[in-house]
Amino acid sequence: MTIEINQLLANFRPPAFPGSYFISFEGIEGAGKSTQIIQTQRYLESLNFRVLVLREPGGTSFGEKLRKAILESNSPIHPVAEMHLFCSSRAQLLHEVTLKELAVPGTIIIYDRYIDSTIAYQGMGRGLGIEAVLKTHQSFPLTLVPHLTLYIAIGLNTSHLRQNKRQIPKDYFERQGNDFYQKLIDGYEKSHELFPERVFKIDGEKDESFVFEEIKRAVHHLIERVR
Ligand code: TYD
Repeated sequence: MTIEINQLLANFRPPAFPGSYFISFEGIEGAGKSTQIIQTQRYLESLNFRVLVLREPGGTSFGEKLRKAILESNSPIHPVAEMHLFCSSRAQLLHEVTLKELAVPGTIIIYDRYIDSTIAYQGMGRGLGIEAVLKTHQSFPLTLVPHLTLYIAIGLNTSHLRQNKRQIPKDYFERQGNDFYQKLIDGYEKSHELFPERVFKIDGEKDESFVFEEIKRAVHHLIERVR
């Protein structure tokens, strides 16, 4: 790891609100994020946490406009423009919602995608490089990272099989080919390497109940560690 990457990494930290936690879910299409997020929300509510699920990009009226601008674009967007759009949506969501809600003790904010998506999709997929992504996140509130990231890892074949089963129209990123998906996987692996304490990798090739047990294990570890 270069000295520069180490310096960039040193600026990231989770928000410090006693009794509240910030968690994100990551993975390529077909990893099973949505199902696991719903189950995790229910489970955490049963433990008496107040749980909010937010999605990236989006979650604010400004962010939803950016979401449309990116995901419904008919013409290719320059990778740099794309990265900044995602970061704009993120900064606004942190400011307008996340930080305010986390100030209420006993809150858990779950993000459906966060910085590791930008590392995977724009850093590796679009070829901007991981350093470029880390550099764009050096100003507050983008320096905030989750306490825990649940990375549900699947391979290319599983992603294809599950996407084909779903039969819903493909959006902007889902139309990309195998090379792009392999880069996403490489990007997530790199994130896992760069943030070993935060990013918990789960074998998403296994069945839903196995994945959920792993999630519960990681969440309990977090709650006990931070308390
Ligand atoms: P979405 O429909 O939410 O996809 P999914 O259900 O797979 O989460 O669309 C979000 C898309 O945006 C998804 O393909 C990943 C991509 N993305 C990036 O490229 N960079 C980012 O920083 C984020 C947050 C998402």
